[in-house]
Amino acid sequence: MPIIVFGSLNMDLVAQVPRLPMAGETLLGTGFTTVPGGKGANQAVAAARLGAATSMVGRVGDDGFGAILCASLRQAGVNTDLVLVDAGPSGVALINVDGTGENQIVVVPGANGHGDETDGLRLPLPVASPDRSKPLEPYILLMQFEVPLVAVQAAAVRAKAHGVRVIVDPAPARSDLPPDFYGLVDILTPNQTEASQLTGLAVQDVTTAQAAAQVLRQRGTATVIVKLGGQGAVVASPSEVFHVPAFPVPVVDTVAAGDAFNGGLAVALGEGKPLRRAVEWASAVAALSVMQAGAQPSMPTRPQVEAFLLSHGSE
Ligand code: ATP
Ligand code: RIB
Repeated sequence: MPIIVFGSLNMDLVAQVPRLPMAGETLLGTGFTTVPGGKGANQAVAAARLGAATSMVGRVGDDGFGAILCASLRQAGVNTDLVLVDAGPSGVALINVDGTGENQIVVVPGANGHGDETDGLRLPLPVASPDRSKPLEPYILLMQFEVPLVAVQAAAVRAKAHGVRVIVDPAPARSDLPPDFYGLVDILTPNQTEASQLTGLAVQDVTTAQAAAQVLRQRGTATVIVKLGGQGAVVASPSEVFHVPAFPVPVVDTVAAGDAFNGGLAVALGEGKPLRRAVEWASAVAALSVMQAGAQPSMPTRPQVEAFLLSHGSE
């Protein structure tokens, strides 16, 4: 099933630090790398590495970073025909990662911030045959909040009109979602912070995540998956509520764990896996990603995911 990702592309400027700095403090870092990232692009790379036909819709700047970001997507097998090159800088993310894999991120949107309602018209959506004899091919659209909300909303409206399944990662956190947004989304995947910000509840464990998921479902999204980092993920759908624990793995760097999860989820659902199985699959993709440094370089291939699941007693 084709996957479209509408979202951000960032160059991640990553400093390794002994611990995360306090306000006003200057620390000596122990390493520095530039790594292709951005929540949208990371999810696209995750899906493509797992074998899905994946297209990216987004914007980069006309600086050196833009070309590198598009090349990284293409190398993973993502179609970049719909990535526009705008005048000005590309998006960047300033990231500190400490020795435990914990991180701190500041995103400066650059070209990602130029998106507007017209971006919805650029989505490569399925087209009905002229006599409507063939059903539309099912597609999945993945979005996040590193591009303007008006653009995300317009894309969701258009995708829904074409029968496309819409999965939204409401990251970075925001609390100003219009009430009618929730009904445009089939699956919402906040992390702990985002679930807290959206609901006003203090989400910190499986029980509080279940409560938050039900609040969000009542606003109109059929299925909510709250990602809880090392505590796994809580799922609430119209027919079931369940918890999928995280795989116990050595953590190197959790940057883009959520993106790995969403890419894996889309691929698994697109292949027709039931929701619980799809979330287990997504958790395996995310677990493999936290064992590697960097955003896009940490996204596993399909054989790696299959071998990991086998070695953990799952097919
Ligand atoms: P990011 O913003 O860094 O992309 P996120 O905050 O959206 O990530 P998390 O909740 O940190 O997402 O993680 C997503 C999923 O990744 C979790 O639900 C879990 O399956 C997996 N994961 C995260 N941290 C770990 C960990 N320490 N060990 C194993 N799996 C993990
Ligand atoms: O989710 C991880 C991503 O968030 C990083 O790649 C960084 O670009 C920020 O957007």
